[in-house]
Amino acid sequence: MAEDARLESLVLALNGQRYEVAGCDIDPSTTLLEFIRTRTPFRGPKLGCGEGGCGACVVLIAKYSPATDEVTSFSANSCLTLIYSLNFCSVITTEGLGNARDGFHSIHKRMSGFHASQCGFCTPGMCMSIFSSLVTADNSERQKPTDGFSKLTVSEAENAFSGNLCRCTGYRPIVDACKSFASDVDLEDLGLNIFWKKGNKKPDVSKLPSYTLGGGICIFPEFLMSEIKSLKDHADNVNIPVSKGNHCHPRLSSNTLCCGICSLLDCLKSGSKSLRNHKTDVNTTAYKKGWYRPTSITQYFKLINSIQSSDSSVKVVVGNTSAGVYKDQDFYNKYIDIGGIPELSSIIRKPEGIQIGAATTISRCIETLVQESKSMCSPNGSDVFRKLAEHLSKVASPFVRNTASIGGNIVLAQKYQFPSDVATILLGAGSTVCLQSVVERQHITLEEFLEQPPLNTTTLLISIFVPHWISDPHTETSLVFQTYRAASRPLGNAVSYVNSAFLGHVFFEGSSGKFVLSNLHLAFGAYGTEHAIKARKVEKFLIGKSLTASSVLGAIQLLRETIVPMKGTLHAEYRVSVAVGFLFSFLSSFAKGMAVPGKPVTISSTYSVDTHDNSELSLSSHQETISDDEYKPIGEPTKKYGVELQASGEAAYVDDIPAPKNCLHGEFIYSTQPLAYVKNIKFKSSLASEKIITVVSAKDIPRNGQNIGSMTRFGDESLFGDPIAEYAGQALGVIIAETQRYADMAAKQVVVEYDMADLNTPILTMEQAVQNNSYFDVPAVLYPKQIGDFSKGMAEADHKILSTEVKLASQYYFYMETQTALAIPDENDTMVVYSSSQYPELAQTVIARCLGVPFGNVRVITRRVGGGFGGKGYRSFPVATAAALCAYKLKCPVKMYLNRNTDMLMVGGRHPMKAHYSVGFKSDGKITGLHLDLLIDAGISVDLSPIIPSSVISGLKKYNWGALSFDIKLCKTNNTSKSTMRAPGETQGSLIAETVIEHVASVLSVDANYVREKNFHTYDSLVLYFPGSAGEASTYTLHSIFDRLTLTSSYLNRVDLIQQFNSCNKWLKRGISCVPLIYSVAPRPAPGRVSVLNDGSIVVDVGGIEIGQGLWTKVQQMTAFALGQLWPEGCEGLLERVRIVQADTLNLIQGGVTGGSSSSESSCAATLQACKMLISRLNPVMNKLRLESGTVSWDNLIAQASKENVNLSASVYWVPDNGSNSYLTYGAGLSEVEIDLLTGAITILRSDLVYDCGKSLNPAVDLGQIEGSFIQGIGFFIHEEHQTNSDGLVVSNSTWDYKIPSVDTIPKQFNVELLNTGYHKNRVLSSKASGEPAVVLASSVHCALREAIGAARKEFADSTRQKSSPLTFQLNVPSPMTLVKELCGFDIVDKYLENLSTHEFANEA
Ligand SMILES: Cc1cc2nc3c(=O)[nH]c(=O)nc-3n(C[C@H](O)[C@H](O)[C@H](O)COP(=O)(O)OP(=O)(O)OC[C@H]3O[C@@H](n4cnc5c(N)ncnc54)[C@H](O)[C@@H]3O)c2cc1C
Ligand code: FES
Ligand code: FES
Repeated sequence: MAEDARLESLVLALNGQRYEVAGCDIDPSTTLLEFIRTRTPFRGPKLGCGEGGCGACVVLIAKYSPATDEVTSFSANSCLTLIYSLNFCSVITTEGLGNARDGFHSIHKRMSGFHASQCGFCTPGMCMSIFSSLVTADNSERQKPTDGFSKLTVSEAENAFSGNLCRCTGYRPIVDACKSFASDVDLEDLGLNIFWKKGNKKPDVSKLPSYTLGGGICIFPEFLMSEIKSLKDHADNVNIPVSKGNHCHPRLSSNTLCCGICSLLDCLKSGSKSLRNHKTDVNTTAYKKGWYRPTSITQYFKLINSIQSSDSSVKVVVGNTSAGVYKDQDFYNKYIDIGGIPELSSIIRKPEGIQIGAATTISRCIETLVQESKSMCSPNGSDVFRKLAEHLSKVASPFVRNTASIGGNIVLAQKYQFPSDVATILLGAGSTVCLQSVVERQHITLEEFLEQPPLNTTTLLISIFVPHWISDPHTETSLVFQTYRAASRPLGNAVSYVNSAFLGHVFFEGSSGKFVLSNLHLAFGAYGTEHAIKARKVEKFLIGKSLTASSVLGAIQLLRETIVPMKGTLHAEYRVSVAVGFLFSFLSSFAKGMAVPGKPVTISSTYSVDTHDNSELSLSSHQETISDDEYKPIGEPTKKYGVELQASGEAAYVDDIPAPKNCLHGEFIYSTQPLAYVKNIKFKSSLASEKIITVVSAKDIPRNGQNIGSMTRFGDESLFGDPIAEYAGQALGVIIAETQRYADMAAKQVVVEYDMADLNTPILTMEQAVQNNSYFDVPAVLYPKQIGDFSKGMAEADHKILSTEVKLASQYYFYMETQTALAIPDENDTMVVYSSSQYPELAQTVIARCLGVPFGNVRVITRRVGGGFGGKGYRSFPVATAAALCAYKLKCPVKMYLNRNTDMLMVGGRHPMKAHYSVGFKSDGKITGLHLDLLIDAGISVDLSPIIPSSVISGLKKYNWGALSFDIKLCKTNNTSKSTMRAPGETQGSLIAETVIEHVASVLSVDANYVREKNFHTYDSLVLYFPGSAGEASTYTLHSIFDRLTLTSSYLNRVDLIQQFNSCNKWLKRGISCVPLIYSVAPRPAPGRVSVLNDGSIVVDVGGIEIGQGLWTKVQQMTAFALGQLWPEGCEGLLERVRIVQADTLNLIQGGVTGGSSSSESSCAATLQACKMLISRLNPVMNKLRLESGTVSWDNLIAQASKENVNLSASVYWVPDNGSNSYLTYGAGLSEVEIDLLTGAITILRSDLVYDCGKSLNPAVDLGQIEGSFIQGIGFFIHEEHQTNSDGLVVSNSTWDYKIPSVDTIPKQFNVELLNTGYHKNRVLSSKASGEPAVVLASSVHCALREAIGAARKEFADSTRQKSSPLTFQLNVPSPMTLVKELCGFDIVDKYLENLSTHEFANEA
């Protein structure tokens, strides 16, 4: 019987092609993503996190029901979906929508045309989330929209990709691309695009790439339907086992791959005894493993029975999304998919409630609850179902909800203490569950179930029953139901810090004039509890009591005794206070003034809580750019080079390069200790350990080589900790296995034995570094220069603030493509390494030094990088070097693609800092002197850290401090090495500057902008502060930019409005702030080569790497501009002839590092110079031909030049001259935020930026850079908590713990203006950099937050009797909602109620 349920083979359609896999060919733990990427030609779905948290892997899955003859489809993450769960399903990836050969889909074209893709790594997943939303909307019963549009609405468009992360764009253009399909969109509201120009007559849909209702794609192929129908004759359920079919188009077999590896392994084996016999293992694997899909409960238990008698490890799954939460620690032998048991997927509507099968997906539950709530006629009864559905819509992301089951969630909560929303809200709604063990069926309350010992496979959760709740007309009570959650993102992928659901009946007691509650259910969960609980004591206390301030206070005091987070819970006090806030929110609605009992409850009362749901605010934006046709096509907002390929998933990143024959895969073993001898590395006895082919370590470094993993001009960094691990996260070796997944899982089996004897205590903090004098040197030439005499400045001051602290934490890069390299050994100890690197030239050096070979033996190739932000500079070398070392040792190709957790743990990030400032100032706000004591945590190795002090000071110098002095220490600690990250140093320096300004303003009780402007540089002080880069007086545009911004954003008016808002709202506060930007940019030398082939095609090589910043696009435009003078049609059509090729360190040398915002302009300058060289060679030919035949076509010119042996390849090395090697760029940013005092939730209501881009080379590209860096800055200043444990090991190492901004946390209104500040003679065609500076402008959000928190603290200053001034508080970076709440006061509700109840008491007396 058990064997009946075993799936022997698998059939599915992928992008319309049939795939059939025999059971023994594929491990049942294989995910859809791995299958697609390693077994088929498709590479669209990307691996960004492997835990359901980023959306890079999203695909569309379609199912066909022969019974109803219907196809249903939904988006899903392919990284968690197991391939065997897709028997007879159809899968569509972004390539299936369209591609380069067959034509791109409208989504691809609109993503391109709205400039919605930068590095492109997130784009395929975005496209699929959008596609799925379009299909779902179009399949609905809604009215047919106007031709060209979908039935999607604007608000749905804004949520379509709420679970997809993008680290580059800042989401705004993606929202525009998606909204362009919405039937209710006003096209004029959409942002900059290539389809119409601003100011043209009203745009209409015909200008957009056409869209066919329904998506225009066959999502379920005919052949598969026929197959399913024919199978139906043999079996009722198409998902039960089928015999091996003989269809073989394109039948997959792993033989080729397997044979290749076996022969390699045999060969390896002869050299190393540690290698296992792979062939044998494959056979046993096929024998042991299995996927079972029982179709009845009886079959399930028979199966479990038979399996338990053997020694196999078993995993029971439905959607398998829990693998994203609780990572598998080993492989399983057998998988039991219970999704095929009909009872588990049935939904039964009963008069008393609704019974939902445990395997029902969360999405289906939402639909059902919505339908049910609509169909109910009871006055408030439908509220429960509606609110449950609303809450469920905030769980995970659309693509997770589509496969995640409701039962799986509850079991996670019951078994693993998962902080579930589902369990809490269903508990609040009084749900019961049905359980089935072998012998009995049990109906118990959800509360009882949660309290039972953890479920094991001998019990199945069958269904959940949610009762109908209705108001009771006889007793004149009203039903009330509310759910709450506090999470770091309102909509996308963030579990709750605490959640709750409250249900009860309320009636108005005429005698007392107050409301009384009965039948209360108060459920709380996720606060650091074993499982969701009911606050029984509080329920009991409240039932039957008149709701007054003192009874609410009493309830809250009892709640504090009930909600006790488990030891070790992060943000424990925060969670408790938010739980209190939730109960207060709920009860305050009735504490006074409910209109008519028995009718829907309205919230209106002076006590009531004035919260609203900001996640429902719609997004809007405005962009101002000026195109300039002086250097056409330079200055035009042309679309990004190769962008459709990025959207269609055909653009190749390192992991997309098909693995060469015999390729093996590596994953790092890392230290978990900060300072220890590595005595031994062992492996647990496990299935995963069997996958280890070998381990490569420092011992394998060739005799002439060095243990080097990275280097800068300041020093080297080891590849492996040998013999001592010097920090937690340091590489100790590389595990080699047949696939990346095997290597990753095998790495989890590592047990490292350490010995700390005779070693010093590790230095983990900056204070410890100071105590131990542990510093890196900063060379004198790099140490910034003091300005003026600080003592004199202080002597002139009327007021002084002394030694005040501000702390800034680290930030992780969170590029969507993690560090990766593919190393392929070649003849004579040469090596080709494909590396995702911003600095291939130095990667080549490091690899060659490690292997002990001449640099010329190593060729590093970088096509494109899936996001870098500085993290793929020096931090990319260890992976490239390790892969090369493994390939060198094993004599076969080795690929390493770090999984997200390892990447986050090992790679480091932005420098954490601790500053103490002392500042003197006049009563009119003029600052006379600033001194800064700054500690910078550089981590274990020097990297580029010695440049950080000068960049911090450069960021600080945006104001004229009078005298400026500092003492900066670069601390060497036993932490991961910190490296440059977008606007390194300047970001922190600027925040320190703003903190000082705001502090001064608060002491003087004046508007911070007044102090800012008072301390703006004059041109003379600018020259003093920025000698060599200040430029001419006419180019100092900051004053006008700042004035413009405050004017266009109605700053003063909004300050008044905010004051009014704050005085009317007790529990919501707003703040606004405006910050200036001065940013110093220094272009570096760069090589370039322009070659013209005999057919007239143009190929350009540049040193700069395309990391998403649009470098290739600008180079393409520059080539067209420069060669355009030889092109008879101006440059029309010339762009398409230009191809930019990947960087190759043996092809074009001295490529340098891509970073510092200036690589695009340097590469453009080199291209221009090379083009000029070509033109000078081609001009004589041109003149000759013109004399002969008038107009000369490009093709004829090249043909003739070729005939005359003209050198058609020009190579240059551009070196900036003295006048252009450093300049300043200016900007200003204004932000308004709102905070919720009960949860600390932050909403950025609006941000406005004005940025001086010179004559932008491409306004669309520059706009994208500015918006993207601003949003990344918001991540740094507000959301991203890069936490470590007491050993310095990074613990925020996943999408679960580390929250970069998502589409629901960007400013609700986002306006950006690019200024064209005219002619800059020393710049490349008068352009200025845009890549990094706008990160700094995001400090406006931080400053606005400070204002809002200040308003909150003032509001509660009386009731909370704060000891210090409410405006004196330290707002560190980041400042997430937990910190906001802390600063507003964890006990404000209690204190407030205490105050009220004292008055109440006095009144009654
Ligand atoms: C990125 C992401 C974000 C998330 N965010 C949230 C969130 O904000 N709030 C929230 O509440 N949840 C969240 N979740 C959790 C998510 O809801 C659960 O992972 C999901 O519901 C589990 O369902 P599944 O079908 O995938 O279960 P599976 O992963 O297949 O199974 C989960 C566990 O339950 C067992 N199991 C499943 N069904 C049964 C059954 N009927 N009887 C007995 N045992 C069973 C399995 O054996 C397994 O141990 C998130 C998950 C992800 C991946
Ligand atoms: S890779 Fe699947 S969600 Fe991130
Ligand atoms: S374009 Fe979205 S992550 Fe790079």
